[in-house]
Amino acid sequence: MKQKNKKAKKLYICSECGATYPSWTGKCISCGQWNTIVEEIVSRKPKKTIETNSIQKPKPITQAKEQKHHIRITTQIPSLDEALGGGIVLGQVILLSGEPGIGKSTLLLQVASNISKERKVLYITGEESTHQVFIRGERIGALSDNLYIMSETNLEVIIDTIEHENPEFLIIDSVQTIYSSELESAAGSVSQVREVSAKITEIAKTKNIPVIIIGQVTKEGNIAGPKVLEHIVDTVAHFEGERGHSYRVLKVIKNRFGSSGEIAVFNMKDTGLEEVKNPSSFFISERPEGKSGSIIFPFTEGSKPVLVEVQALVSKTVYAVPQRKTQGIDINRLSIILAILEKEGNIFLKDRDVFVNVVGGMFIKEPAVDLAVAIAIISSFFNIPVDRRLIAFGELGLAGEIRSVHYTEQRIKEAKKFGFNKIVIPYNSKIDDPDIIPVKYIKEVIELLKP
Ligand SMILES: Nc1ncnc2c1ncn2[C@@H]1O[C@H](COP(=O)(O)OP(=O)(O)OP(=O)(O)O)[C@@H](O)[C@H]1O
Ligand SMILES: [Mg+2]
Repeated sequence: MKQKNKKAKKLYICSECGATYPSWTGKCISCGQWNTIVEEIVSRKPKKTIETNSIQKPKPITQAKEQKHHIRITTQIPSLDEALGGGIVLGQVILLSGEPGIGKSTLLLQVASNISKERKVLYITGEESTHQVFIRGERIGALSDNLYIMSETNLEVIIDTIEHENPEFLIIDSVQTIYSSELESAAGSVSQVREVSAKITEIAKTKNIPVIIIGQVTKEGNIAGPKVLEHIVDTVAHFEGERGHSYRVLKVIKNRFGSSGEIAVFNMKDTGLEEVKNPSSFFISERPEGKSGSIIFPFTEGSKPVLVEVQALVSKTVYAVPQRKTQGIDINRLSIILAILEKEGNIFLKDRDVFVNVVGGMFIKEPAVDLAVAIAIISSFFNIPVDRRLIAFGELGLAGEIRSVHYTEQRIKEAKKFGFNKIVIPYNSKIDDPDIIPVKYIKEVIELLKP
């Protein structure tokens, strides 16, 4: 007799190199990596024969323009719309990741409630009960009859519900809690996360429903799950902030429907997240006066720069090995900057602890921050406050040279808007402006800071 629910055939694939195995192993023999083997379904249903008239023929790119343009819907949070490139596109799949308790569910419940004024919204929660979501909704004023919630973790049930309910906007909270019964592995495993996101993406595309998927992050701050998850979705956004502080930053890491690097800033309140319309003034508002070790840096990875305060504290160490600690920049980057300051600037820090902090809870990956970090350290080392009208950006090369970076004009414009008129920039940027101080080597910067 034929078995009715025949289990799908499985294979084990290395997520690093693609080598396949008939059973799971801890180490991939092919590439030598550990814990990279994931379970994979190889055949789920019999292949349909492809009808020849449904196959698309190649066409010249000049004729590839589609009649229907991307229709964008608004989240009714202007800075969020802007960060996403002008709203959410129909069929767009957005992955929102962030640390536990940062406010992902709060933000998305607000977005869901706003959108439900015009469209039917389905909010799937795998982490909380519907009552918990109701309580949050009541607290932040996000209750609406057109906002449907469901506490479910089975992917097949969720897909079925989407088919029957026909929502016009979908939220999945979170991808790590949903499981497909076609796979044996537990919810949150690499293969489950991959399967769930692929299936949700497929339904979003075929039914043209915009979807926001919440993704948890690992201890290292990466999205929990395979890298391929980030490839599947159209947009990846990180929600970050410092514990104990109320500001939150949404950073768009990848976007197929707009530029990446855009940010939106929020303030977490009892009543939910409130957008910060002018992030620059928000971040530099508490800058100490007359103190050394503080400088403003125009941060940008997208089109909209934001001024942030970079602080350094250099103090005599009491340890055998001096301390180096950072918050908001990469610790390895700090080591390089310190080595350059020693070699090219004769600033010896072997008996000093060095702490660097980016105020505002933002993590700055762009190398343009190097010069601001170096200046903050120099300022603290000599105990000389940086001129309050001075702002700086540029990458530090290993020979002590200041290298040019992206978005020079935009950064200068934002700096001027806030009254900065001593703008220290890389020499090669070649900007003709009386407020600009071009610098070629770190030595010149040190001379510039000395009174
Ligand atoms: N009653 C309350 N009043 C004010 N703020 C609250 C209240 N309850 C929760 N919060 C804030 O909301 C945060 C939790 O938000 P939320 O549940 O949206 O986070 P999350 O990112 O979805 O977390 P998780 O990863 O656990 O799902 C808390 O850390 C706290 O700052
Ligand atoms: Mg949550």
